[in-house]
Amino acid sequence: MIYKIYLHSSNIVLFSYKEHFSLLHTLEINNISIQYQCKSGQCSLCKLKLLIGKVRYLKTPMIFIQRYEILPCICIPITNITIQI
Ligand code: FES
Repeated sequence: MIYKIYLHSSNIVLFSYKEHFSLLHTLEINNISIQYQCKSGQCSLCKLKLLIGKVRYLKTPMIFIQRYEILPCICIPITNITIQI
């Protein structure tokens, strides 16, 4: 499935197009820069706010995150989503 990724407070809309590509990867290939380090759900540097929609984790996060936060390095959208960067 292809889902839209809306970047809050901008007119930018991205598309997830490969289920095995993380949200972080999708942001990177679209030249949207965010901080990251481990790319494995352990450091929290990539943490973003998920305003609308749902994601699925490819692996279990190793750190505590709030209900409205996501780790784009290890998740993919499973609906259209709106994120705050
Ligand atoms: S880059 Fe470390 S948790 Fe995402």
